[in-house]
Amino acid sequence: MARAGRAERAERALEDRGVVVARAPAGEGLRAWLERVPADLVLVEARALAGRRGASLVDLRAAPEHPEVVVFVEAEDAEARARLLAQGAVAVVYHGVSDAALREALLAFVARRRDDLRRRVRARLDERRSGLDDFASESPAMIAFLDVVRRVVDAETSLLLLGETGVGKEHLARAIHEASGRRRGPFMAVNCAALSESLLESELFGHVAGAFTGAVRDRRGYFELADGGTLFLDEVGELPGHLQVKLLRALQERAVVPVGGERALEVDVRLMAATNRDLQVEVRQGRFRSDLFYRLAVVTLLVPPLRERRADVPRLVERYVEHYRRRLGKPVRGVRPDALDLLVRHDWPGNVRELINVIERAVLLATCDEVAPADLPVEVSGPRPAAPAPPPDDAALDGPWIRVRDAALRDLERRYFARLMTTSEGRVGAAARRAGLSPRSLFDALRRLGLRKEDFRRAADPGGPLP
Ligand SMILES: Nc1ncnc2c1ncn2[C@@H]1O[C@H](COP(=O)(O)OP(=O)(O)OP(=O)(O)O)[C@@H](O)[C@H]1O
Ligand SMILES: [Mg+2]
Repeated sequence: MARAGRAERAERALEDRGVVVARAPAGEGLRAWLERVPADLVLVEARALAGRRGASLVDLRAAPEHPEVVVFVEAEDAEARARLLAQGAVAVVYHGVSDAALREALLAFVARRRDDLRRRVRARLDERRSGLDDFASESPAMIAFLDVVRRVVDAETSLLLLGETGVGKEHLARAIHEASGRRRGPFMAVNCAALSESLLESELFGHVAGAFTGAVRDRRGYFELADGGTLFLDEVGELPGHLQVKLLRALQERAVVPVGGERALEVDVRLMAATNRDLQVEVRQGRFRSDLFYRLAVVTLLVPPLRERRADVPRLVERYVEHYRRRLGKPVRGVRPDALDLLVRHDWPGNVRELINVIERAVLLATCDEVAPADLPVEVSGPRPAAPAPPPDDAALDGPWIRVRDAALRDLERRYFARLMTTSEGRVGAAARRAGLSPRSLFDALRRLGLRKEDFRRAADPGGPLP
């Protein structure tokens, strides 16, 4: 029992430092248990890893939260130790180790996990942070756009954010919130398309006990949660009719009535709404209330698609290469000029979101410290329509008119008859009918141009009677 006593002492030492310790029940497999009780650190006997029912170390590491695993072994055994470390154990501890050393080691692992976690949370926050600087641009479309944005940052009016998918409507809404006087208040985002109708109503406006089945206690709606801040309604075009009425009333009266409630609650919320539907069409077709539309669309901001501001591509690429370099831990410094050229020329139907996905993939695939064209997906790197034809060579226009005209005409004739013979597969009769010429004239033309009908026959069709 000396060992059990030791485990308890270690447990107590950890609990004293605010670490939550849980023991896996004997009956349940360790791996299954970790599914229910995610852990940062798992202490396990080597015995429990062996045998048919034992969990493998790799399995344990793959459990939710990807715990670190410390393995206890009966006796020092260099080979077993090397094997366990190779399989991903963070440490292998011999039972003979002193209490004090064990405690220090465990606390160090826990501290390291906490640091990692903090770093991850911070990275996630950074990722979500957005400022108007993110939209700074040299492209004329964006300069004009940002000029309007800056003028409405502190206006208390509702904003309607329009633009293709992935252009950054939500990113912009956050940035405006951060730049506005409401920045200390909450920014709440709700996707109207992601919730069922009944849920959406209570999510937005809240509900009081017993309002509908399953509602067991008061729930504060997003309007209330966003009090003092900004409420961003994404996909507002999906809002069903009766909620459009309710939303309009909330905007006009600056108050909401929770589902099942009687009293209106005052709320101080700035509303921003977004959609990639054409709301004017929705209004015309009777799917969106015009009064709500006009209320929302006091100021409409149409975020330009990325292909209309290609000058922004290099900066976005740089930002997201840096992001994924850190996130994926790959030593990728940047993008080769030829790859950047492809990125700038791509049309980006999925806009910034597509660009982010392309960069994540490229950083992941990169085999050296720069992203190369081969790391880009075929939509970006693949064959594009040929570059626009070079401007006509003006030298061909020099000289007397007759000569220039005849040269151009000959060129046209040659292209016309070559194509005609190709599509007719070298059959003069058919070609002459298509061209509206007699076979005789066609022959003359071919001879003049040095074209031979045989050259246009299909390989499987050698010769054949002349027409
Ligand atoms: N100017 C920008 N700088 C950096 N990141 C951006 C910028 N614009 C958009 N993004 C990022 O691009 C992604 C897509 O942006 P967002 O979700 O705001 O697009 P959206 O217009 O709301 O798209 P959807 O219509 O599909 O909802 C997000 O990860 C966002 O952070
Ligand atoms: Mg969005």
